Amino acid sequence: MATVVVTGANGQVGRELQVLANHYPAFQFHFTSEKNLDVTDEEAVVRFFNEYPPDYCINAAAYTAVDQAEEEAAAAESVNAHAPLYLAKACAALDIPLLHYSTDYVYHNALNRPLRETDETHPKGVYARTKLAGDQAALDAHKKVIVLRTSWVYSSFGHNFVKTMIRLGREREQLRVVYDQIGSPTYARSLARASLGILQQFEQGAVPADRQHGVYHYSNEGVCSWYDFAAAIFELQQIECSLAPILSRDFPTRAERPPFSLLDKSKFKQAFGFHIPHWRADLTEMLQAYARHPEG
Ligand SMILES: NC(=O)c1ccc[n+]([C@@H]2O[C@H](COP(=O)([O-])OP(=O)(O)OC[C@H]3O[C@@H](n4cnc5c(N)ncnc54)[C@H](OP(=O)(O)O)[C@@H]3O)[C@@H](O)[C@H]2O)c1
Repeated sequence: MATVVVTGANGQVGRELQVLANHYPAFQFHFTSEKNLDVTDEEAVVRFFNEYPPDYCINAAAYTAVDQAEEEAAAAESVNAHAPLYLAKACAALDIPLLHYSTDYVYHNALNRPLRETDETHPKGVYARTKLAGDQAALDAHKKVIVLRTSWVYSSFGHNFVKTMIRLGREREQLRVVYDQIGSPTYARSLARASLGILQQFEQGAVPADRQHGVYHYSNEGVCSWYDFAAAIFELQQIECSLAPILSRDFPTRAERPPFSLLDKSKFKQAFGFHIPHWRADLTEMLQAYARHPEG
């Protein structure tokens, strides 16, 4: 049986990988967190890979506090920029694939059309810069690295926009949400399913060498602003809070967000052939999962 080590397994994507694990009996999973595998400790990574040599690695560990990263650059750098290199080197030593996640924030350009993997990157802020550095370091270190760049990730686990909107929408009479940032949300379970689908294709020998290395985009289908997303959350949850669209300049954040970061997923769909659900369909699925397990 093929073994898969998952790092950062208590995060949104990591938890969703755990939920799905039973549906993939061809794989034995080794879910790790910072407690038993601190990805920023290169010696620990090497030791772990020697002790439990896997057939695949999924790196779901990251420093994702985008605004806090401005004050904690060193911490963000070690998780986002250095750890992917350590993991890529450990995977190279075993000649096994590494699946790594990255972010739409690395692009931050003014193209105003769906972003392609070949588009220029202009990361702004510590989080975006360290994520891009990690992508590049991992890709340079090993020939079997797939970087899945995704956007606006949410889940019934952890902290995210959907859960915040539900909470605030129930507490307040009115909420202001930006409508000049455009992109697509990504349900972490959908991303986890796509990730495991890729590993299945590796197992079947269905991933040719030229597809085993590089950047791919994955988010839900469709497009919206954060305001549209909030409106859909309220509608589906029957929350009667009045929603006001505002401009980003009226909601300043420490790290600047890209105004347009819709990801073009053609390359992913062509390479792996999966159907990607529309964001409203996946939002509905997440809200049902959240209703069943509100403790997240
Ligand atoms: N969230 C988004 O909106 C978003 C958008 C685009 C891309 N992404 C990317 O998608 C991936 C998954 O994101 P996510 O939302 O699942 O993130 P998340 O919920 O913040 O999970 C990240 C996990 O990594 C763990 N971690 C932090 N430092 C670690 C270390 N030194 N060793 C091992 N584990 C460590 C965290 O543990 P603690 O919680 O204990 O710190 C957490 O469990 C990341 O690469 C992220 O950059 C996310």
